[in-house]
Amino acid sequence: MTNTVTTFQKMKNQGERISMLTAYDYSMAKLIDEAGINGILVGDSVGNVVLGYDDTIPVTMEDMIHHGAAVARGAKNALVVIDMPFMSYQTSIYDAVVNAGRLMKEGGAKAVKLEGGEKVKDQIRAIVDASIPVMGHIGLTPQSINAFGGFKVQGKTEDTAKQLLRDAKAVEEAGAFAVVLECVPEQLAAKVTEELSIPTIGIGAGAGCDGQILVYQDMLGMYSDFSPKFVKRFAEAGLIMNQAFKEYDKEVKEGTFPAKEHCFTMKEEVLDRIY
Ligand code: KIV
Repeated sequence: MTNTVTTFQKMKNQGERISMLTAYDYSMAKLIDEAGINGILVGDSVGNVVLGYDDTIPVTMEDMIHHGAAVARGAKNALVVIDMPFMSYQTSIYDAVVNAGRLMKEGGAKAVKLEGGEKVKDQIRAIVDASIPVMGHIGLTPQSINAFGGFKVQGKTEDTAKQLLRDAKAVEEAGAFAVVLECVPEQLAAKVTEELSIPTIGIGAGAGCDGQILVYQDMLGMYSDFSPKFVKRFAEAGLIMNQAFKEYDKEVKEGTFPAKEHCFTMKEEVLDRIY
């Protein structure tokens, strides 16, 4: 089944939960797509988990287009959403529309995601008016890490909880088709989910959201630099890979790989003629 923004809305209306994972390349997008996951986010988390930066700030439009296009080639049924990187939409409404358009035309996005609530409602409205679906992202928004002073749960006080609700409503009113809630207390995320008519996709926001998203390296145990409390490891793929790499190293050094079945041969008479 091909997933579109309409599928997401239908799933919320029918009380069905939406699954999303991140991906940054063709092979992983194909595997995730074949598992029936509803949506793939080409997150700017590519900066951390693929490019090795400390945060998402250095990620560029070219990075997002490069990885987005690879994912779009691998995903046949999942809705492909590409993140707008830092400073690709904050600077002006014009920049926001031009860059969202590039992610769709050059990156193969079916929708874009951008961080922020009330402050970016005009950008969301303008992008949606250009027929590009937008996913909002509120709560802990990693592009604002320097303003937050670190990775912290958002919306724990009365004032910040009220602001989060205002942000959620602003994103919906601006025309977003869904909104990510990151690192928000579960009770507040459930309240936002109840108040909004568009789907909420949680990451560290509890089971009351309409859907969930995780970074695939986190849920497969492939990224050890930082492991947030909200991550569940569904496999220890990092360990399996490490064992395989060690086995390969051993066999190469022992000379047992490649074996006969991994080799190509040529006719002996041809070989004779080259001496
Ligand atoms: O960049 C990303 O991977 C994200 C998810 C964590 C929601 O924004």
